Amino acid sequence: MSNRYILRVIDSSDYPYLIQWRNDPRIRNYMYTQHVITAEEHQSWINKITTNDSYHPLILEYNNEPLGFVNIHQIAQGGIADWGFYTSPVAPKGTGSKLGEQALNYAFNTLKLHKICGQALDFNFASRKFHKRLGFKEEGTLEQHHFDGQKYHDVICFGLLANAYYLITNNEK
Ligand SMILES: CC(C)(COP(=O)(O)OP(=O)(O)OC[C@H]1O[C@@H](n2cnc3c(N)ncnc32)[C@H](O)[C@@H]1OP(=O)(O)O)[C@@H](O)C(=O)NCCC(=O)NCCS
Repeated sequence: MSNRYILRVIDSSDYPYLIQWRNDPRIRNYMYTQHVITAEEHQSWINKITTNDSYHPLILEYNNEPLGFVNIHQIAQGGIADWGFYTSPVAPKGTGSKLGEQALNYAFNTLKLHKICGQALDFNFASRKFHKRLGFKEEGTLEQHHFDGQKYHDVICFGLLANAYYLITNNEK
């Protein structure tokens, strides 16, 4: 059976369900901004990420069903990028790993980036495990770096270099 997961560039058909995913407590509780996003905020974010070449917003599909979103954002020259991602609130377990694998393949083999950086709030154990499972190095902790309105949280920083990725996947550069 062929691999029916595909990663494709976002288009306007994705915008309505993305705001629903993003506002689901299972997702927004792990974001830096945890309030319910308005339609205007969503549209202005969509405008930003679809009109600037430094953003690469992508959708993971399985059998034509959207299951995940990832945004790779080049933040510095030399191919250094951040990423942010979430799976559909009803996606089956294992979807995150598929999203991560496909996004890293795109980042390193298509975009030819040098480094991907991720940040996870300290209580986001799924994301911390996800980064480590994909081969990211835990680079450090930004102590009490996020205030959620009531409490400070540490932010855990992860990084994956292209060379390390090629070693993990046995790909040629
Ligand atoms: C982070 C996220 C993408 C992971 O997706 P997922 O489908 O749960 O990922 P997987 O099922 O492939 O699991 C990845 C690893 O995390 C582990 N994991 C999943 N949920 C977990 C949890 N609640 N606590 C601890 N580990 C967890 C899995 O067991 C797996 O590890 P393993 O391979 O050793 O078994 C998803 O949970 C999500 O969208 N979370 C909300 C948004 C978010 O946190 N985005 C990232 C912000 S930094």
